[in-house]
Amino acid sequence: MSSPLDHSCSSLMEDKKVVLITGCSSGIGLSLAVRLASDPDKTFKVYATMRNLEKKERLLECVKGLHRDTLDILQMDVTNQKSIQDARDRVVEKRIDILVCNAGVGLMGPLEVQTLDSMQRILEVNLLGTMQTIKTFLPGMKTRGQGRILVTGSTGGLHGLPFNEVYCASKFAVEGACESLAVLLQHFNIHVSLIECGPVNTDFLVNLQRAEIGDASLQQVDSQTLSLYERYLQHCNSVFQNAAQDTEDIVKVFLDAIMSVNPAFRYFTSGVMPPLIRLKVSEPDGLQYINTLSQTVFSSEEQ
Ligand SMILES: NC(=O)c1ccc[n+]([C@@H]2O[C@H](COP(=O)([O-])OP(=O)(O)OC[C@H]3O[C@@H](n4cnc5c(N)ncnc54)[C@H](OP(=O)(O)O)[C@@H]3O)[C@@H](O)[C@H]2O)c1
Repeated sequence: MSSPLDHSCSSLMEDKKVVLITGCSSGIGLSLAVRLASDPDKTFKVYATMRNLEKKERLLECVKGLHRDTLDILQMDVTNQKSIQDARDRVVEKRIDILVCNAGVGLMGPLEVQTLDSMQRILEVNLLGTMQTIKTFLPGMKTRGQGRILVTGSTGGLHGLPFNEVYCASKFAVEGACESLAVLLQHFNIHVSLIECGPVNTDFLVNLQRAEIGDASLQQVDSQTLSLYERYLQHCNSVFQNAAQDTEDIVKVFLDAIMSVNPAFRYFTSGVMPPLIRLKVSEPDGLQYINTLSQTVFSSEEQ
């Protein structure tokens, strides 16, 4: 005969929120997986996924082997439909309550040097990877009439940034996809939320594909673009040095969204709508935004 304790344990197991996160080898995905798997109340069962399981040591070191019952690591490449389905099929609970689409890559440099392959890769990971992942887990959420979908968005998905045309295009597209889905999915009690990040201290800048000054590819670029690119890189470094948030700050915002009974569609990790986005909204013809950003990024006082 089972004891009251057994009952409370089994009901606790059933009550655990099952979370699947993409891109957990580093950065935001890793920190979120560690935080949720370490929850003192053991509220979550976390499936931390990554495309290359050889990178799992970093995550395992962070959780220090303490979370056997709250953490599982699965292989999942968001550009490979079979790998997404295999990960879904390995979820023991046969359901995902909270899906976090976080995997993403950057691409920086003058548009003229970007190859079709490199542009496609960014769109495949950031846009199509996110959509394929959502698509795979959506039927289960619809059948159960509940679910949460959280997507790591970027302020670069809300306003354009020079030398980031393809990255911004991919993140703008994610905004459109999520907003469209959110309208429909509220009829299924499925909440979609975008966690809009500005600069965050992660491996993102190291991992992104970036044209470096001196690269042979940049020799084909005119000198004015090159000089503006150099200024942009300095601006970018200074922004990351002075204003980047830590992943813990981002994780807190994810937790706010996860714990909210009625989550917002859009969360700004800085806590307020960033001034450049406010400017875009208040001056819809766009010229003030373009002039302000151009001055901010390229003005000689910056140097
Ligand atoms: N850091 C920032 O300043 C910033 C700002 C705004 C938004 N974001 C967004 O935040 C998200 C996370 O980035 P991060 O800052 O944490 O950078 P990160 O440390 O570079 O993490 C990116 C993660 O995405 C994974 N990934 C890349 N391609 C993948 C694929 N095909 N399938 C599965 N996973 C893949 C990476 O895995 P590998 O290790 O295998 O490459 C890594 O785990 C991204 O969506 C990014 O656009 C970041």
